[in-house]
Amino acid sequence: MKLSNCHNFQDFRKLARRRLPSPIFHYIDGAADDEITHRRNTLAYDDVDLVPSVLAGVENVDLSTTIFGRKIELPLYCAPTALQRLFHHEGERAVAKAAQKYQTMFGVSSLGTVSVEEIGTMIDTPKMFQFYFHKDRGLNNSMIERAKAAKFDVLALTVDTITGGNRERDLRTGFTSPPKLTLSSLFSFASKPMWTINYLTKPKFELPQLQDYVGEGTNIAISIGEYFSTMLDQSVNWNDAEKLCSQWNGHFALKGIMSVEDAKKAVDIGCTGIMVSNHGGRQLDGARAPFDQLAEIVDAVGDKIDVICEGGIQRGTHILKALSLGAKACSGGRLYLYALAAAGQAGVEKALDLYRAELERDMKLMGCTSISQLSRDNLRFR
Ligand code: LAC
Repeated sequence: MKLSNCHNFQDFRKLARRRLPSPIFHYIDGAADDEITHRRNTLAYDDVDLVPSVLAGVENVDLSTTIFGRKIELPLYCAPTALQRLFHHEGERAVAKAAQKYQTMFGVSSLGTVSVEEIGTMIDTPKMFQFYFHKDRGLNNSMIERAKAAKFDVLALTVDTITGGNRERDLRTGFTSPPKLTLSSLFSFASKPMWTINYLTKPKFELPQLQDYVGEGTNIAISIGEYFSTMLDQSVNWNDAEKLCSQWNGHFALKGIMSVEDAKKAVDIGCTGIMVSNHGGRQLDGARAPFDQLAEIVDAVGDKIDVICEGGIQRGTHILKALSLGAKACSGGRLYLYALAAAGQAGVEKALDLYRAELERDMKLMGCTSISQLSRDNLRFR
Protein backbone atom coordinates (compact mmCIF):
# COMPACT_ATOMS: atom_id res chain seq x y z
CA MET A 1 0.00 0.00 0.00
CA LYS A 2 1.28 3.44 -1.02
CA LEU A 3 0.26 7.08 -0.56
CA SER A 4 -1.23 7.04 -4.08
CA ASN A 5 -3.68 4.38 -2.85
CA CYS A 6 -4.88 6.51 0.05
CA HIS A 7 -8.29 7.97 -0.72
CA ASN A 8 -9.73 8.49 2.74
CA PHE A 9 -9.13 8.52 6.50
CA GLN A 10 -9.22 4.73 6.82
CA ASP A 11 -6.66 4.30 4.01
CA PHE A 12 -4.21 6.62 5.82
CA ARG A 13 -4.88 4.73 9.04
CA LYS A 14 -4.01 1.42 7.37
CA LEU A 15 -0.82 2.81 5.92
CA ALA A 16 0.17 4.37 9.26
CA ARG A 17 -0.34 0.99 10.92
CA ARG A 18 2.10 -0.57 8.47
CA ARG A 19 4.74 2.09 9.04
CA LEU A 20 4.65 2.56 12.81
CA PRO A 21 5.90 0.32 15.61
CA SER A 22 2.75 -0.89 17.33
CA PRO A 23 3.15 1.09 20.61
CA ILE A 24 3.24 4.30 18.56
CA PHE A 25 0.34 3.37 16.31
CA HIS A 26 -1.79 2.43 19.31
CA TYR A 27 -0.89 5.66 21.09
CA ILE A 28 -2.50 7.60 18.21
CA ASP A 29 -5.29 5.13 17.53
CA GLY A 30 -6.27 4.32 21.08
CA ALA A 31 -8.59 6.04 23.55
CA ALA A 32 -9.86 5.67 27.11
CA ASP A 33 -11.44 2.61 28.76
CA ASP A 34 -13.74 0.83 26.27
CA GLU A 35 -13.25 3.54 23.63
CA ILE A 36 -17.01 4.03 23.36
CA THR A 37 -16.74 7.83 23.26
CA HIS A 38 -14.01 7.59 20.64
CA ARG A 39 -16.28 5.54 18.35
CA ARG A 40 -19.34 7.66 19.11
CA ASN A 41 -17.46 10.84 18.14
CA THR A 42 -17.62 9.68 14.50
CA LEU A 43 -20.90 7.74 14.62
CA ALA A 44 -22.72 10.85 15.90
CA TYR A 45 -22.55 12.40 12.43
CA ASP A 46 -24.60 9.50 11.04
CA ASP A 47 -27.62 10.44 13.14
CA VAL A 48 -28.17 13.51 11.01
CA ASP A 49 -29.00 13.56 7.31
CA LEU A 50 -28.20 16.29 4.83
CA VAL A 51 -31.03 17.74 2.75
CA PRO A 52 -29.59 19.12 -0.48
CA SER A 53 -30.89 21.93 -2.67
CA VAL A 54 -30.42 21.88 -6.45
CA LEU A 55 -30.14 24.22 -9.46
CA ALA A 56 -28.31 26.76 -7.32
CA GLY A 57 -25.50 27.81 -9.69
CA VAL A 58 -22.54 26.32 -7.87
CA GLU A 59 -19.57 26.71 -10.22
CA ASN A 60 -17.56 28.73 -7.67
CA VAL A 61 -17.41 27.50 -4.10
CA ASP A 62 -15.79 29.54 -1.32
CA LEU A 63 -14.68 27.35 1.60
CA SER A 64 -13.16 30.14 3.65
CA THR A 65 -14.18 31.04 7.19
CA THR A 66 -12.93 33.43 9.87
CA ILE A 67 -11.88 32.21 13.30
CA PHE A 68 -10.12 34.19 16.01
CA GLY A 69 -10.20 37.19 13.69
CA ARG A 70 -8.21 35.46 10.96
CA LYS A 71 -9.44 34.15 7.65
CA ILE A 72 -8.61 30.56 6.79
CA GLU A 73 -9.28 29.02 3.39
CA LEU A 74 -10.65 25.74 4.79
CA PRO A 75 -13.25 25.36 7.58
CA LEU A 76 -10.95 22.66 9.02
CA TYR A 77 -7.62 23.00 10.77
CA CYS A 78 -4.91 20.80 12.25
CA ALA A 79 -5.53 20.59 15.99
CA PRO A 80 -2.48 20.67 18.24
CA THR A 81 -1.20 17.17 19.03
CA ALA A 82 1.76 15.94 21.04
CA LEU A 83 4.94 14.07 20.10
CA GLN A 84 4.71 14.37 16.31
CA ARG A 85 8.39 13.53 15.81
CA LEU A 86 7.54 9.99 16.89
CA PHE A 87 5.04 9.59 14.08
CA HIS A 88 7.33 10.84 11.31
CA HIS A 89 10.82 12.29 11.39
CA GLU A 90 9.53 15.55 9.83
CA GLY A 91 7.10 15.95 12.76
CA GLU A 92 5.49 19.37 13.16
CA ARG A 93 7.54 20.81 10.32
CA ALA A 94 5.56 18.65 7.90
CA VAL A 95 2.19 19.58 9.36
CA ALA A 96 3.03 23.29 9.55
CA LYS A 97 4.04 23.43 5.88
CA ALA A 98 1.02 21.44 4.76
CA ALA A 99 -1.31 23.69 6.77
CA GLN A 100 0.34 26.73 5.21
CA LYS A 101 -0.10 25.28 1.71
CA TYR A 102 -3.83 24.88 2.33
CA GLN A 103 -3.99 28.24 4.15
CA THR A 104 -5.44 26.87 7.32
CA MET A 105 -4.51 27.07 10.98
CA PHE A 106 -1.93 24.85 12.66
CA GLY A 107 -1.83 24.12 16.37
CA VAL A 108 1.44 23.47 18.20
CA SER A 109 1.31 21.52 21.45
CA SER A 110 3.04 22.21 24.77
CA LEU A 111 4.30 18.66 24.17
CA GLY A 112 5.31 19.49 20.59
CA THR A 113 8.64 18.27 19.21
CA VAL A 114 9.55 21.45 17.28
CA SER A 115 9.92 24.82 19.00
CA VAL A 116 7.36 27.59 18.75
CA GLU A 117 10.19 29.85 17.55
CA GLU A 118 10.94 27.59 14.58
CA ILE A 119 7.27 27.21 13.61
CA GLY A 120 6.79 30.97 14.04
CA THR A 121 9.44 31.76 11.47
CA MET A 122 8.53 28.86 9.17
CA ILE A 123 4.92 29.80 8.38
CA ASP A 124 2.92 33.01 8.22
CA THR A 125 -0.54 31.40 8.34
CA PRO A 126 -2.57 31.45 11.60
CA LYS A 127 -1.05 29.51 14.48
CA MET A 128 -2.43 28.29 17.79
CA PHE A 129 -0.38 27.38 20.81
CA GLN A 130 -1.91 24.67 22.98
CA PHE A 131 -1.18 25.24 26.65
CA TYR A 132 -1.08 22.71 29.49
CA PHE A 133 -1.34 24.32 32.92
CA HIS A 134 1.68 22.84 34.71
CA LYS A 135 2.50 22.87 38.42
CA ASP A 136 5.76 24.59 37.42
CA ARG A 137 4.76 28.25 37.13
CA GLY A 138 8.15 29.13 35.64
CA LEU A 139 7.42 26.75 32.78
CA ASN A 140 3.91 28.18 32.32
CA ASN A 141 5.24 31.74 32.09
CA SER A 142 8.04 30.74 29.77
CA MET A 143 5.65 29.03 27.35
CA ILE A 144 3.33 32.04 27.28
CA GLU A 145 6.17 34.48 26.66
CA ARG A 146 7.70 32.30 23.96
CA ALA A 147 4.41 31.78 22.11
CA LYS A 148 3.76 35.52 22.29
CA ALA A 149 7.23 36.38 20.98
CA ALA A 150 6.80 33.82 18.18
CA LYS A 151 3.61 35.70 17.21
CA PHE A 152 1.16 32.88 17.73
CA ASP A 153 -2.40 34.07 17.05
CA VAL A 154 -4.30 32.03 19.62
CA LEU A 155 -3.58 30.51 23.02
CA ALA A 156 -5.73 27.43 23.73
CA LEU A 157 -5.82 26.12 27.29
CA THR A 158 -6.66 22.42 27.35
CA VAL A 159 -9.15 21.80 30.15
CA ASP A 160 -10.02 18.11 29.79
CA THR A 161 -6.71 16.58 30.94
CA ILE A 162 -6.85 17.33 34.65
CA THR A 163 -5.74 13.74 35.22
CA GLY A 164 -4.55 11.01 32.86
CA GLY A 165 -7.20 9.11 30.90
CA ASN A 166 -7.15 5.32 31.23
CA ARG A 167 -5.57 4.33 27.93
CA GLU A 168 -5.36 0.59 28.21
CA ARG A 169 -3.66 0.10 24.86
CA ASP A 170 -0.75 2.21 26.14
CA LEU A 171 -0.64 0.13 29.31
CA ARG A 172 -0.46 -3.04 27.24
CA THR A 173 2.19 -1.82 24.80
CA GLY A 174 4.19 0.04 27.47
CA PHE A 175 4.14 3.26 25.42
CA THR A 176 6.14 6.09 26.95
CA SER A 177 7.69 9.36 25.83
CA PRO A 178 10.43 8.94 24.81
CA PRO A 179 9.75 5.37 23.66
CA LYS A 180 11.48 2.72 25.73
CA LEU A 181 12.93 -0.43 24.29
CA THR A 182 11.64 -3.24 26.44
CA LEU A 183 11.68 -6.96 25.91
CA SER A 184 8.03 -6.86 24.86
CA SER A 185 8.35 -3.83 22.55
CA LEU A 186 11.61 -5.00 20.98
CA PHE A 187 9.84 -7.01 18.30
CA SER A 188 7.55 -4.13 17.29
CA PHE A 189 10.51 -1.78 16.78
CA ALA A 190 12.63 -4.43 15.03
CA SER A 191 9.75 -5.22 12.68
CA LYS A 192 9.60 -1.57 11.48
CA PRO A 193 13.26 -1.01 10.56
CA MET A 194 12.58 2.10 8.44
CA TRP A 195 10.91 3.87 11.35
CA THR A 196 13.68 2.77 13.71
CA ILE A 197 16.46 3.94 11.37
CA ASN A 198 14.75 7.30 10.92
CA TYR A 199 14.21 7.62 14.64
CA LEU A 200 17.87 6.99 15.34
CA THR A 201 19.45 8.96 12.47
CA LYS A 202 17.12 11.93 11.82
CA PRO A 203 16.76 15.02 14.09
CA LYS A 204 16.68 13.98 17.72
CA PHE A 205 13.41 13.60 19.59
CA GLU A 206 12.97 16.51 21.97
CA LEU A 207 10.23 18.57 23.62
CA PRO A 208 11.57 22.13 23.15
CA GLN A 209 8.64 23.85 24.85
CA LEU A 210 9.48 22.01 28.11
CA GLN A 211 13.14 21.19 28.01
CA ASP A 212 14.57 23.94 30.22
CA TYR A 213 12.10 23.08 32.98
CA VAL A 214 11.18 19.40 33.06
CA GLY A 215 13.00 16.21 32.09
CA GLU A 216 9.86 14.10 32.00
CA GLY A 217 9.01 13.17 28.42
CA THR A 218 12.59 13.49 27.19
CA ASN A 219 15.23 12.40 29.71
CA ILE A 220 12.75 10.60 31.92
CA ALA A 221 10.44 8.18 30.09
CA ILE A 222 6.83 8.64 31.16
CA SER A 223 3.42 7.64 29.85
CA ILE A 224 1.14 10.44 28.77
CA GLY A 225 -1.41 9.48 31.42
CA GLU A 226 1.26 9.75 34.10
CA TYR A 227 2.46 13.06 32.67
CA PHE A 228 -1.02 14.56 32.97
CA SER A 229 -1.51 13.14 36.47
CA THR A 230 1.82 14.24 37.90
CA MET A 231 3.02 17.32 35.99
CA LEU A 232 -0.21 19.27 35.51
CA ASP A 233 -1.83 21.34 38.25
CA GLN A 234 -5.09 19.72 39.39
CA SER A 235 -6.05 22.81 41.37
CA VAL A 236 -6.51 24.88 38.19
CA ASN A 237 -9.84 26.73 38.21
CA TRP A 238 -11.80 29.48 36.45
CA ASN A 239 -9.81 32.23 38.20
CA ASP A 240 -6.56 30.77 36.88
CA ALA A 241 -8.04 30.54 33.39
CA GLU A 242 -9.19 34.16 33.58
CA LYS A 243 -5.72 35.29 34.72
CA LEU A 244 -4.12 33.31 31.92
CA CYS A 245 -6.47 34.94 29.44
CA SER A 246 -5.45 38.44 30.58
CA GLN A 247 -1.75 37.50 30.75
CA TRP A 248 -1.95 36.31 27.14
CA ASN A 249 -3.87 39.40 26.14
CA GLY A 250 -4.95 38.08 22.75
CA HIS A 251 -7.27 35.49 21.25
CA PHE A 252 -7.81 32.90 23.95
CA ALA A 253 -9.70 29.59 23.82
CA LEU A 254 -10.62 26.73 26.11
CA LYS A 255 -10.14 23.36 24.48
CA GLY A 256 -12.35 20.61 25.82
CA ILE A 257 -15.59 22.39 26.74
CA MET A 258 -18.63 20.08 26.72
CA SER A 259 -21.38 21.82 28.73
CA VAL A 260 -23.46 24.93 28.08
CA GLU A 261 -22.66 26.24 31.58
CA ASP A 262 -18.91 26.01 30.96
CA ALA A 263 -19.31 27.58 27.52
CA LYS A 264 -21.04 30.57 29.14
CA LYS A 265 -18.26 30.83 31.75
CA ALA A 266 -15.73 30.79 28.92
CA VAL A 267 -17.45 33.87 27.48
CA ASP A 268 -17.43 35.53 30.91
CA ILE A 269 -13.68 35.13 31.42
CA GLY A 270 -12.91 36.68 28.03
CA CYS A 271 -12.45 33.70 25.70
CA THR A 272 -12.90 34.44 22.02
CA GLY A 273 -13.47 30.79 21.17
CA ILE A 274 -13.96 27.29 22.51
CA MET A 275 -13.29 23.82 21.15
CA VAL A 276 -16.20 21.53 21.89
CA SER A 277 -14.13 18.42 22.39
CA ASN A 278 -13.62 15.34 24.54
CA HIS A 279 -9.94 14.96 23.59
CA GLY A 280 -10.68 12.40 20.90
CA GLY A 281 -12.26 10.06 23.45
CA ARG A 282 -8.88 9.74 25.15
CA GLN A 283 -9.91 11.06 28.56
CA LEU A 284 -13.44 10.43 29.90
CA ASP A 285 -14.97 7.42 28.22
CA GLY A 286 -18.75 7.75 28.25
CA ALA A 287 -18.54 11.49 27.58
CA ARG A 288 -20.94 12.74 24.93
CA ALA A 289 -19.70 13.35 21.39
CA PRO A 290 -18.83 16.96 20.47
CA PHE A 291 -21.25 16.85 17.54
CA ASP A 292 -24.11 15.77 19.87
CA GLN A 293 -23.38 18.73 22.20
CA LEU A 294 -22.82 21.26 19.47
CA ALA A 295 -26.34 22.64 18.91
CA GLU A 296 -27.02 23.56 22.55
CA ILE A 297 -23.61 25.20 22.92
CA VAL A 298 -23.99 27.16 19.68
CA ASP A 299 -27.45 28.30 20.80
CA ALA A 300 -26.03 29.57 24.09
CA VAL A 301 -22.80 31.29 22.98
CA GLY A 302 -22.46 31.01 19.19
CA ASP A 303 -23.26 34.71 18.68
CA LYS A 304 -20.50 35.77 21.12
CA ILE A 305 -17.51 33.51 20.48
CA ASP A 306 -16.20 31.08 17.86
CA VAL A 307 -17.45 27.57 18.54
CA ILE A 308 -15.24 24.90 17.02
CA CYS A 309 -16.32 21.27 16.67
CA GLU A 310 -13.40 18.99 17.37
CA GLY A 311 -13.59 15.24 17.21
CA GLY A 312 -14.48 12.26 15.09
CA ILE A 313 -14.15 13.96 11.73
CA GLN A 314 -13.32 11.58 8.92
CA ARG A 315 -15.30 13.03 6.01
CA GLY A 316 -16.13 16.32 4.33
CA THR A 317 -19.81 15.66 5.10
CA HIS A 318 -19.01 15.48 8.82
CA ILE A 319 -17.63 19.00 8.55
CA LEU A 320 -20.67 20.20 6.56
CA LYS A 321 -22.98 18.83 9.26
CA ALA A 322 -21.08 20.57 12.07
CA LEU A 323 -20.98 23.86 10.14
CA SER A 324 -24.71 23.56 9.40
CA LEU A 325 -25.36 23.29 13.14
CA GLY A 326 -23.43 26.51 13.66
CA ALA A 327 -19.79 25.59 14.28
CA LYS A 328 -17.42 28.22 12.85
CA ALA A 329 -14.87 25.54 11.90
CA CYS A 330 -13.85 21.98 12.70
CA SER A 331 -10.58 20.52 13.84
CA GLY A 332 -9.02 17.21 14.65
CA GLY A 333 -5.85 15.29 15.33
CA ARG A 334 -6.11 11.80 13.90
CA LEU A 335 -7.49 13.27 10.65
CA TYR A 336 -3.94 14.36 9.76
CA LEU A 337 -1.79 12.24 12.11
CA TYR A 338 -2.27 8.95 10.28
CA ALA A 339 -1.36 10.78 7.07
CA LEU A 340 1.73 12.24 8.76
CA ALA A 341 2.79 8.79 9.90
CA ALA A 342 2.04 7.36 6.45
CA ALA A 343 4.05 9.83 4.37
CA GLY A 344 5.22 12.98 6.21
CA GLN A 345 4.44 16.33 4.61
CA ALA A 346 3.23 14.73 1.37
CA GLY A 347 0.81 12.64 3.43
CA VAL A 348 -0.63 15.59 5.34
CA GLU A 349 -0.94 17.57 2.11
CA LYS A 350 -2.82 14.71 0.50
CA ALA A 351 -5.14 14.41 3.52
CA LEU A 352 -5.91 18.14 3.46
CA ASP A 353 -6.35 18.01 -0.30
CA LEU A 354 -8.88 15.20 0.03
CA TYR A 355 -10.85 17.11 2.69
CA ARG A 356 -10.79 20.22 0.50
CA ALA A 357 -11.98 18.27 -2.55
CA GLU A 358 -14.68 16.48 -0.54
CA LEU A 359 -15.91 19.74 0.93
CA GLU A 360 -16.03 21.43 -2.44
CA ARG A 361 -17.86 18.51 -4.04
CA ASP A 362 -20.28 18.16 -1.13
CA MET A 363 -21.01 21.90 -1.07
CA LYS A 364 -21.88 21.74 -4.80
CA LEU A 365 -24.09 18.71 -4.22
CA MET A 366 -25.78 20.58 -1.35
CA GLY A 367 -26.41 23.60 -3.59
CA CYS A 368 -24.23 25.91 -1.49
CA THR A 369 -21.40 28.20 -2.57
CA SER A 370 -20.30 29.60 0.77
CA ILE A 371 -20.13 28.39 4.38
CA SER A 372 -22.59 31.10 5.44
CA GLN A 373 -25.29 29.44 3.31
CA LEU A 374 -25.18 26.30 5.47
CA SER A 375 -27.84 26.18 8.17
CA ARG A 376 -29.97 23.82 10.19
CA ASP A 377 -32.50 23.92 7.34
CA ASN A 378 -30.05 21.61 5.56
CA LEU A 379 -30.32 18.97 8.29
CA ARG A 380 -32.82 16.43 9.57
CA PHE A 381 -32.23 14.44 12.74
CA ARG A 382 -33.34 10.82 12.45
C1 LAC B 1 -2.88 12.94 24.28
C2 LAC B 1 -2.37 14.28 24.61
C3 LAC B 1 -0.94 14.44 24.77
O1 LAC B 1 -4.09 12.83 24.14
O2 LAC B 1 -2.98 15.29 23.90
O3 LAC B 1 -2.13 11.96 24.21
